Amino acid sequence: MDVPKEYFLKDYKKPSYYCDTVELKFVLNEDKTHVYSKISVIRADNEASASSPLVLDGSDLKLISVDVNGKQLNEGDFYVDSCHLTLPSPPTGKFTLEIVTEIYPQDNVSLEGLYKSSGNFSTQCEAEGFRKITFFQDRPDIMAKYTVRVEADKTKYPVLLSNGNLIGQGDIEGGRHFAVWEDPIKKPSYLFALVAGRLESRDDTFVTRSGRKVTLRIYTPSEDLPKTTHAMHSLKAAMKWDEDVFGLEYDLDLYNIVAVPDFNMGAMENKSLNIFNSKLVLASPETATDADYAAILSVIGHEYFHNWTGNRVTCRDWFQLSLNEGLTVFRDQEFSSDMGSRTVKRIADVSKLRNYQYAEDSGPMAHPVKPHSYIKIETLCTVTVYEKGAEVVRMYKTLLGSQGFRKGMDLYFERHDGQAVTCEDFYAAMKDANNADFANFLLWYSQAGTPVVKATSSYDAEKHTFTLKFSQEVPPTPGQPVKEPMFIPVAMGLLDSHGNDMPLSLVSHDGKLETLTVGGQAVHTTVLRVTKKEEEFVFSEVSEKPVPSLLRGFSAPVRLESDLSDNDIFFLLAHDSDEFNRWEAGQILARKLMLSLVAHFQQNKPLLLNPKFVQGLKTILCDNTLDKEFIVKAMTLPGVGEMMDMMEVADPDAVHAVRTFIRKELALQLKTDFLRTVQENKSSEQYEFNHLNMARRALKNISLAYLASLEDPECTELALNEYKTASNMTDEFAALVAITQNPGKHHDQVLAHFYNKWKHDFLVVNKWFALQAMSDVPGNVENVMKLLDHPAFDLRNPNKVYSLIGGFCASPVNFHAKDGSGYKFLADLVLQLDKTNPQVTSRMVSAFSGWRRYDETRQKLAKAQLEMIMSTNGISANVFEIVSKSLA
Ligand code: PHE
Ligand code: ZN
Repeated sequence: MDVPKEYFLKDYKKPSYYCDTVELKFVLNEDKTHVYSKISVIRADNEASASSPLVLDGSDLKLISVDVNGKQLNEGDFYVDSCHLTLPSPPTGKFTLEIVTEIYPQDNVSLEGLYKSSGNFSTQCEAEGFRKITFFQDRPDIMAKYTVRVEADKTKYPVLLSNGNLIGQGDIEGGRHFAVWEDPIKKPSYLFALVAGRLESRDDTFVTRSGRKVTLRIYTPSEDLPKTTHAMHSLKAAMKWDEDVFGLEYDLDLYNIVAVPDFNMGAMENKSLNIFNSKLVLASPETATDADYAAILSVIGHEYFHNWTGNRVTCRDWFQLSLNEGLTVFRDQEFSSDMGSRTVKRIADVSKLRNYQYAEDSGPMAHPVKPHSYIKIETLCTVTVYEKGAEVVRMYKTLLGSQGFRKGMDLYFERHDGQAVTCEDFYAAMKDANNADFANFLLWYSQAGTPVVKATSSYDAEKHTFTLKFSQEVPPTPGQPVKEPMFIPVAMGLLDSHGNDMPLSLVSHDGKLETLTVGGQAVHTTVLRVTKKEEEFVFSEVSEKPVPSLLRGFSAPVRLESDLSDNDIFFLLAHDSDEFNRWEAGQILARKLMLSLVAHFQQNKPLLLNPKFVQGLKTILCDNTLDKEFIVKAMTLPGVGEMMDMMEVADPDAVHAVRTFIRKELALQLKTDFLRTVQENKSSEQYEFNHLNMARRALKNISLAYLASLEDPECTELALNEYKTASNMTDEFAALVAITQNPGKHHDQVLAHFYNKWKHDFLVVNKWFALQAMSDVPGNVENVMKLLDHPAFDLRNPNKVYSLIGGFCASPVNFHAKDGSGYKFLADLVLQLDKTNPQVTSRMVSAFSGWRRYDETRQKLAKAQLEMIMSTNGISANVFEIVSKSLA
């Protein structure tokens, strides 16, 4: 096959031509769509540009005509190939370029560019979808003002939307109508959007703090409108929060959100016309779980926050994607923290990082937050760019404090509003606004791999000094064999023997003693700046041997190994004032325990649970002073991904067996406590999505899940009863999950009942698919294959693919089945799906990328499938990129 082109950051060149206005006209029809584009082009004022041709990107376009300054060009005045339209010698001054193209959205199954979803037209242009609409310099550093006219059949497409403000509309002959939209704010082409369809809207208003009255509209098919209350509430909360926390106001009079059932990703931040995967808009207590409600809140927030971080200030090129995404994920994390519990949100985010990003960072797809190269930028919408990128932004805040961070943000907008910029520009704004010394902090953008930090400590009882020594190592990653030491902010405190925080006085490197204070108060948490390969910190006036609490709040995305004893860790679990580290102490113990049980399992030794561990969890479970959601997090064992990532050779069977063993053993030993917890936390009142109610449901449901694992009649009866009496989807689905963890009569009956009850609601049916796909019952691949033929399944709908195929790949037992059936299943599907939707396919095929972490048998089986895919003619560049890198 042809090897697709790879793009490098070092090859970035400024454009030779800019374009400041774009006028588009769409004539939408059932069999074809004509796009008329009129742009004003200006040559850049430099020598290199003087002789440059104008090269426009295009993909799958039928060119009808090209005009320059009103005159049609003849053949020979321009060249077209499969991905470009080139004008070898355009006029020297500013000129007008008009291009007409013909496209076929009704046949577009890639869901990039202009396509149809459930009969409606809609677009997805990030990253390079605009070139599937018209020829254009489709790159984010070309920012222009857009005016868009849309024409379509009035009965079929009563709603016509694009970015900005509606400046005209009316009827035209043949039962058609038009709308004209003008976006006054400059934007890159990837933020262009258009929607035409039969939709209705929920309307509301938000008055900004300077008094601008903004109309808010959420569009869905009419029958779904009742399910948009929570989305609207979330949008208003996000608008208010961004004003309160960052002083950022919305800048137009209208904000539209459209929910579409066919969408490759979660949602898209197109200027004033966000397009959302319906699963992140639609919710009612009967059909959506608390987790769905929380996801909607955070993604509505995320897309709204992009209006400033991503849209007003955008990225210069796609290597800088984390400038937009890392920052915006950080902002949505903070928003969700402020709407719920900060500690619990932090725990959830760190778990996600450890379960997914750490694996990526130690495998063949490892890349820096600011990648050096890519083949398809879509494959770089990764947990590294998004989640590790958010950790990098969080470290600025940890180092600068809230006020310093805000100063940096203000300067960033002051300097760069309306520009396309780089990660270094963000760094400079943070640094300059605070006059800060960031040492080698920039390495967080350019070096891949999760740093391993080792901490050892010693106490000198005579001198009353306590010494902490750190050493760090960044493991090699593809293309980066040798690494420099990084700047690691370690937030920490010292606990005395009563479990209280001690005042800290640090002997600084020049030998002076500094007592750390903030506003006259002794500081109990300080941030140590670890910047060298080895570094030492000495605390003085330490009256007794302390227990250090390190990396409080997870102040840096590293793997911390310390010399603390189990006793110290149990002590932190009981006393640490940093709630994150209390949870972390429990996780450290759980990980240690699981790893030792895994070794026992592999040696066929009996499995035994450390009574101190059970006692520790019992104390937390029964502590009614704790936040119930915190208890749930503490009762949740480290994930399979996280455990496999910590093993020399990943052993999915052992991890699964050990997790199952611990769960059952905890259920057995804490049965009375769990039963009481279920009774005490039953919901009686109407469903409400608020922290207290949600936490209570979560605690009841995790207890129920533990109990149901016992398979005894009492617990099974309890779970069945919870299922029958549930009055909201959170409780109903949790009971279903609890019951179906064991195969058998109830398993089948309840699943069938659930499907029959919900078959009219595709979002609920997707949960039903995912639940079955993720089952760890051996041989489940057969069942998943049958489900592919289920009438409710459709390979063209990404959500269904994510539920069934993605769900299956998340099962450690079945995807990694030793007979290779799971690998074969995925590989066959990848080849089939790649023909229609390469973007979704490349996300599925990534499940293979960790193959070298497994035993030899599995490696062979997985490698054979990867090679089979690689040798197939016509695979997409997206799949090529993942598979070739995985095999490298
Ligand atoms: N930019 C979107 C977001 O961060 C994600 C996305 C990427 C959507 C590419 C579609 C295509 O919310
Ligand atoms: Zn985003």
